[in-house]
This record gives sequence, structure tokens and C-alpha cells, in this order.
Amino acid sequence: MTIIVTGGAGFIGSNFIFHMRNAHPEYRIVCLDKLTYAGNLSTLAEVMDKPGFRFVKADICDRESVFALFAEERPDMVVNFAAESHVDRSIEDPGIFLKTNILGTQVLMDACREYGVARYHQVSTDEVYGDLPLDRPDLLFTEETPIRTSSPYSASKASADLLVMAYHRTFGLPATISRCSNNYGPFHFPEKLIPLMIINALADKPLPVYGQGLNVRDWLYVEDHCRAIDLILHKGRPGEVYNIGGNNEKRNIDIVKTIVRELGKPESLITFVADRKGHDLRYAIDATKIGTELGWQPETGFDEGIRKTIRWYLDHEDWWRTIISGEYQNYYAKMYGNR
Ligand code: NAD
Ligand code: DAU
Repeated sequence: MTIIVTGGAGFIGSNFIFHMRNAHPEYRIVCLDKLTYAGNLSTLAEVMDKPGFRFVKADICDRESVFALFAEERPDMVVNFAAESHVDRSIEDPGIFLKTNILGTQVLMDACREYGVARYHQVSTDEVYGDLPLDRPDLLFTEETPIRTSSPYSASKASADLLVMAYHRTFGLPATISRCSNNYGPFHFPEKLIPLMIINALADKPLPVYGQGLNVRDWLYVEDHCRAIDLILHKGRPGEVYNIGGNNEKRNIDIVKTIVRELGKPESLITFVADRKGHDLRYAIDATKIGTELGWQPETGFDEGIRKTIRWYLDHEDWWRTIISGEYQNYYAKMYGNR
């Protein structure tokens, strides 16, 4: 069994590679990644020279390279994590989001058709459903909730989902889609809320909370997401969408206060800054379908998951210090300098 994992040098893709090597040690895993600002080879250091693993630096939009790799590897399955993934960056510069997230998906699916791949899995997001009101805790996203996107990022992910469904129906591509809520855990790039707050708090720097910090996200420990994708790959039905969520809704301000408390830092570091444009209010997933059909449930509770995550950042300072020492500083100054 050979699986091509795209975007495997990023946050969730790398965790998925580690998960698959433990769960299915006999599988060959080929990671295809462009190594954008969000991809780091150091993340894959522990598997890089191991038998049954291969890393290939390539862009999923580069048809020639993608087809050449498929011709060589003849994969049985493809899991697409490769994407531009940060909402704030999509507001600054949407173009690359449309290119990678939509056209890159098309190239991968064309290669799957050409080489008769038995399963294509598209890693999508709950953001394709737009947002829910803060005062209606009874409302949740199901797989039937209409697509209603807010940001260029979510619009690009929704467009890719539509294309995947079209390839399934028109060409019979054996494809599945998962739509997951916010992940957290090891190797999370420091531009995202949880790692950004941990790293800033450790340096006693201001903790920039957008608006009043009342927006709600449903947090899932990354290993639970990886287990869910593994199940969908092996037991999910082609043509189906599966929601994945943590049953763990939290306001941003409460996440930041938890981090501050765990690190023994003062709440006075919290700074309220200008809100994100078009900021989604609340995400909440109904994961009944994957629970009843495939028997998946989240296993790591938030208290345990956030402690493990904070511990990981304390123990892996080299990893994030290298990342924040370069281009990240320009990004941070641009996004937060005059906010
Ligand atoms: P990430 O930004 O940490 O990693 C993305 C990876 O894709 C990087 O390694 C990058 O180098 C690679 N990449 C980007 N453009 C590429 C291209 N053109 N060709 C090849 N590789 C390319 O992202 P993440 O947070 O790990 O998210 C992975 C996937 O999961 C994305 O599709 C995202 O939409 C989805 N998702 C993320 C979350 C979350 O909370 N992070 C939740 C639900 C879904
Ligand atoms: O829901 C799934 C999505 O979760 C994924 O599809 C995206 O790829 C992933 O980035 C994430 O999107 P969010 O926009 O929810 O995540 P982010 O970490 O950027 O922000 C989480 C919340 O925290 C959001 O309400 C904005 C807020 N925030 C974020 C940052 C970076 C702040 O208040 N301050 C910050 O500095």
C-alpha cells in the first residue's frame, strides 16, 4: 500500500504521517510538499531517513511534477493536506489561495484519474459552512448545512470541495471529503491562535486578541483528526462528506486565559486589537455521521490536550525559535504592528 500525503511538512499533515506510520507500519508513505513558509523539513526529521518514507519537494499545481511522481510511485491512495491555510493571510493576498487550494486540487485529482488511484481524500474545513450565531447554542453544522463562506480562504476550500464532488459524480473518482473544526497540538505553525499565544506569553509579549475575544471555535486535538482521516480512508464511502469535531466549543478569550494561567503569566499581557475583517462568530460541528457510521469519537479532552500542547512547545523551543527568527518577524510586524 502506497499513500501520497500532500502538505505533509505542515501541521496536520506531519501529524498524520506520524499517525499512519504507527497505525500501519507496513505502508509506504510519500510526502509531497512545496515547503512554503508553513512547511518545515525539521518537522519530518524523525522519519526522513526511515525505510518506507520518501519526501519529495514539489508544488501540487505543477502538473508535470505531480504526474511524474504518480507514474513512479503508482499510489493506492492520496490524502490532500496541501493548502494555504491561514485566514488572515487570505485577507491580505487571496490569489495564492485560489491557485493552491483549487487548481492544485484539480491537478491531484487529474493525476488520480490518470493512474487509477483507489481513493482520493480531500482534507477540508468546517469554515465552508460559514458561521453560526453566538446566541443559538442549539445550532450545529451538519453535512447538509449549505456552503456559505466568509473569507477568501474558506471560499477557496469550498470551491475545491465542489470540484471534488464534481469529479466523483462526472468521472467516478473514488473521493471522500472531511470537514474538521480547529485543530491544536504539536508542530502548529506560530501564526495561529494557540501557538502564537503560547510563544508570545513565554516572551512576556502582548497577547493580541481580535475584537473582544468572544468568537467561538470548536477545538480538536490533532491526533483525533488524524485517526478520523485514517478511518475515512479505509472505511468511508466514496462520494461522502464527513464532519469531524471536538464537542469542545471555547471563546477565544477563554483559550488565551487558560494558556496564561498554565504558564503562570499575568492576564495583563492580554491586549484587545482590531477585529479580523468578516470574522466568523462561531463554529460548531455535529459529528454524528462519522460517529455512527465509522465509530469515531474524539479521545483527548481539552484540559489534557492543551497541557500536552503547552508542554510540547516548552520542550521544542528549537523548532519554533528557528521559525520565528526569519520571515515570520516581517509577517508579525505587518499584521500586528499598527493593529
Ligand atoms: P499548514 O499551513 O500548517 O500546512 C500546509 C502545508 O502545505 C505546508 O507544509 C506547505 O508547505 C504545504 N503547501 C502549501 N502549498 C503547497 C503547494 N502548492 N504544493 C505543495 N505543498 C504545499 O496547514 P494545516 O493547518 O496543517 O492544514 C492542513 C489542511 O487541513 C489544510 O487543507 C487546511 O485547510 C485543513 N484544515 C486545517 C485545520 C486547522 O485547524 N489547522 C482544520 C481543518 C482543516
Ligand atoms: O475551523 C478550521 C480552521 O481553523 C482551519 O480551516 C484553518 O486552516 C485554521 O487556520 C483555523 O482557522 P481560524 O481562523 O479559526 O484559526 P486562527 O488560529 O487563525 O484563529 C482562531 C481564532 O482566534 C479566530 O477567531 C481569530 C482569533 N485570533 C487569531 C489570531 C491569530 C485572535 O484573536 N488573535 C490572533 O492573533
